[in-house]
Amino acid sequence: MTLATTTDPAPGQGASSALPGVFITFEGIDGAGKSSHIGALADLFRAQGRTVTLTREPGGTPLAEKLRGMLLADAMDPLCEALLMFAARRDHICNVIEPALARGEVVISDRFTDATFAYQGGGRGFDWQVLHTLEGWVQALPDGHTRQPDLTLWFDLAPAVAAQRLAGAREPDKFESESAAFFERVAAGYGRRCAAQPERFARIPADQAREQVWADVLAAVRAHRCWTLAKGPSA
Ligand code: TYD
Repeated sequence: MTLATTTDPAPGQGASSALPGVFITFEGIDGAGKSSHIGALADLFRAQGRTVTLTREPGGTPLAEKLRGMLLADAMDPLCEALLMFAARRDHICNVIEPALARGEVVISDRFTDATFAYQGGGRGFDWQVLHTLEGWVQALPDGHTRQPDLTLWFDLAPAVAAQRLAGAREPDKFESESAAFFERVAAGYGRRCAAQPERFARIPADQAREQVWADVLAAVRAHRCWTLAKGPSA
């Protein structure tokens, strides 16, 4: 996805809604194929009359997009990388995610904190416990809870298959240039995160035909509480 945050009201609907906000994230290693399904899911929610904020990490605000440019290009030590990911996320949460959820919108983000656990924690081997501490600070809600997605769609694909898909597609960025072993660790990081919080994860086998992947996305969304939330009490 190349765009930063876009908020498109459903036809005939204003920015505010009486329905609760819904937060959905897409995750997976580079090349897992999540991007093409993000817009389709946004359209599905719009067809339900919801206003959708479509966004991404790192990025989603002018400041976080500047940090994205550095994160995807510049070499830095793992702590610096983790801190900048969370700095970008903090700006994104404060200025985009929380305001949109408070307005009752559906927020769909291409990546969120699970990517930090997978890439910085798994891929780089950065301390998992420190990431938990940063997550608690950055995603703290006024009631003492930690902001988490309502649903995370994890596109699970073998790193060797993802690498084949990416080969020659475009100039690889800093992360896409990493080794096969790095992506094996990233994939294991996603698996660890999914096992720790199974109630909000839906694992989508991403090695299937695109139509079947979309069918699985639909089934996961419709099976989840967020779908009823999105449709309101009359659903
Ligand atoms: P992505 O937007 O999926 O890449 P692209 O636009 O090239 O498809 O993600 C950008 C990269 O940032 C991706 O390689 C994963 C990495 N990343 C992290 O390492 N940690 C994080 O916390 C996040 C959000 C992304």
